[in-house]
Amino acid sequence: MSDQRVVLVTGASTGFGRLTAEALARRGHRVFAGLRDVRGRNQRAAAELAALEGADLRVVEIDVTDQASADRAVTEVIGAAGRLDVVVNNAGGIFVGPVEPFTAEEAQRQFDLNVFGALRVNRAALPHLRRQGAGLLLQIGSLSSRVTVPFSGLYAASKAALASLTEAWHDELAPHGVESVILDAAPYPTNIGANATLPADQERMGAYGEALGGFMAAITSPQQANPGDPAVVAEAVVRLVEAPEGKRPRRTVVAPAAQFEAVEALNRVADSAAVAVTADMGIAAFVSAR
Ligand SMILES: NC(=O)c1ccc[n+]([C@@H]2O[C@H](COP(=O)([O-])OP(=O)(O)OC[C@H]3O[C@@H](n4cnc5c(N)ncnc54)[C@H](OP(=O)(O)O)[C@@H]3O)[C@@H](O)[C@H]2O)c1
Repeated sequence: MSDQRVVLVTGASTGFGRLTAEALARRGHRVFAGLRDVRGRNQRAAAELAALEGADLRVVEIDVTDQASADRAVTEVIGAAGRLDVVVNNAGGIFVGPVEPFTAEEAQRQFDLNVFGALRVNRAALPHLRRQGAGLLLQIGSLSSRVTVPFSGLYAASKAALASLTEAWHDELAPHGVESVILDAAPYPTNIGANATLPADQERMGAYGEALGGFMAAITSPQQANPGDPAVVAEAVVRLVEAPEGKRPRRTVVAPAAQFEAVEALNRVADSAAVAVTADMGIAAFVSAR
């Protein structure tokens, strides 16, 4: 295809990342599917992806918690394709439980994956994107960055941090022709729940047993048990990748209708606040139009 993009997707072994890599490849884009541990835990996923018929898809090894690994992956993409148009920062995971039982070291691991992971990959990619004068950094965020619910506070905080970084990148990189956007997804059935990390301190965890039990019963109740199709996230990523350069929305919400409307309304208010605050601070010229 003439407007083929070269795309690196991190965390492409399962879930949104896998669906996104496959959807982009089926659309004719040149996809580098980023997987960690391709000779171990992800050997099978790597083989399946590499065998995708009629697709220009290549597996690259990347562990986003390791800067050298991120650097190597980006170097491999540039070496093979000569350029890099889009980075989809999808790799992530969730630490589940009340905030108290988690140690600071455990909390750091949540941020290391969900926040510093994207920071490392973008740091590796940005010199190339700035040199090209074009490119897209697309972070996979969560509605929980806007609406924090209990028992996933570390996760929500990490996604809020990722959203803040995305906004800063957006304005800092606009003069370089590089876009930074975030896609905030509602909960969809992937491997994220099965891969969730719990706090090691079970004694403190036990103090929250009753409330946590009630919460879990509420969110898994028959009224709530209508999981959507995670493919809608991959489809939204494809639309953002194929959108005209410079015209992509800073935040995209992918969620069931009621949640979508509510968070879009919140985003509009946040945009108005950004306009008013930056005007009052005398720095409106440094932020992009809302
Ligand atoms: N599903 C939801 O409800 C939901 C909602 C909003 C946002 N999100 C976000 O969507 C993204 C994808 O999650 P998912 O729901 O698709 O879950 P998933 O199926 O568990 O996929 C997570 C992916 O991240 C990879 N990963 C984990 N640690 C990594 C590391 N250190 N380096 C590289 N890759 C790593 C995993 O690889 P391994 O197979 O090797 O573990 C896997 O490919 C995450 O950022 C998540 O926070 C999910």
